[in-house]
Amino acid sequence: MFDFFKSKKNHFVGIDFGTSAIKIIELCYKDQKAYLENYGIIDMEWLAREGQGGHSASYEQKINSALIALIKKMKLKSGSAYVSIPGFSGLITIIELPQMRDDELKRAIQFEAHKYIPSSLDEIAMSWEVIHHTGSSKISGVGGAEKLKVLLVAAPKRDIERYERYVLGTNLGVSAIELETFSIARALVGEDSGNFFIIDIGSRATNLILVEGGTVIVNRNIDAGGNEITATICESMNISRQRAEIFKKGEKDILNSKESPLVVPVLEFISSESKRILGAYMGKNSGARIDGIILSGGTSKMKGIEEYFSNMLGIRSTVGDPWRRISTDGEASELVKDLGTSFSVAIGLALRGVEDYKRD
Ligand SMILES: Nc1ncnc2c1ncn2[C@@H]1O[C@H](COP(=O)(O)OP(=O)(O)OP(=O)(O)O)[C@@H](O)[C@H]1O
Ligand SMILES: [Mg+2]
Repeated sequence: MFDFFKSKKNHFVGIDFGTSAIKIIELCYKDQKAYLENYGIIDMEWLAREGQGGHSASYEQKINSALIALIKKMKLKSGSAYVSIPGFSGLITIIELPQMRDDELKRAIQFEAHKYIPSSLDEIAMSWEVIHHTGSSKISGVGGAEKLKVLLVAAPKRDIERYERYVLGTNLGVSAIELETFSIARALVGEDSGNFFIIDIGSRATNLILVEGGTVIVNRNIDAGGNEITATICESMNISRQRAEIFKKGEKDILNSKESPLVVPVLEFISSESKRILGAYMGKNSGARIDGIILSGGTSKMKGIEEYFSNMLGIRSTVGDPWRRISTDGEASELVKDLGTSFSVAIGLALRGVEDYKRD
């Protein structure tokens, strides 16, 4: 999606502009393996406080200088980066169309896209792909009743341009920009066969992704995440936001306590939306099964969250490991354990670089 140019070297940089932190990773592909070269984080709360009281730079200027400083420190070997835009900025949907010729298909897709996108299509970057999967439809076949399933992806051009500007301002090029939904699916499912449901809970947003045989087929974004859990703790315990944030990250399992589990509305909402999506999928595809629920995002580090979703959804839920296909040396292996799944997006982006490289 949205390709600009491709890096030919064997180093690949992924940059995830998250609400709580910008995460950067560089991978090196050699001997048919992806190695961790370096990683870096910019804490956005720290950035927001930076320069307060003095001559305050604009938000964009602050991001720009923090990025330049970090990139210099990381001594990146690649001259360009793969970049994500937040899931909630874009649209991913599957549309069904009757069999038709390619030129007709383009017109039909644009016509269909209007149903989903209220603004002018001139302001939207769109891409689509006819998908093959084990559903009832096939890309080609005899009998006029065959249908095409088309994966439609769209995002506002101004969002794409904003993230592109952040990166180009550092003198790095942009290899490609994609919706983070695809980066997460690549990092956590990749080529694995089977059907997986990913629940990625960041700080401001939650991304629910149903992946069937390696293809994203359903995506739902919820405009709430870990920040709301902190707010719930804040209110129910009557403590400051800072203390609530520390408590949330602590060792105590507040979600599954037998005596007094904390009721967290945002997690209940995420559960009910997940049930609805999974129910609709099972209803449409009789006999289909979900092979696992994969938790992702910084909030999946919360104590007891695997047990919580396993109980709520009745399907085994485990925290995903975006590092499983990345080789690291001894010292770094310990560090990445701590970073865990908050690097899913950045790793998925850099792995796209690896995939592009292997294909070329
Ligand atoms: N150990 C922990 N327990 C509970 N929550 C945690 C823990 N560590 C981090 N978090 C939460 O994870 C969230 C940050 O996750 P992540 O880095 O995935 O978000 P982001 O990508 O910056 O945000 P978004 O995707 O919403 O833009 C914060 O709400 C933070 O409080
Ligand atoms: Mg995120």
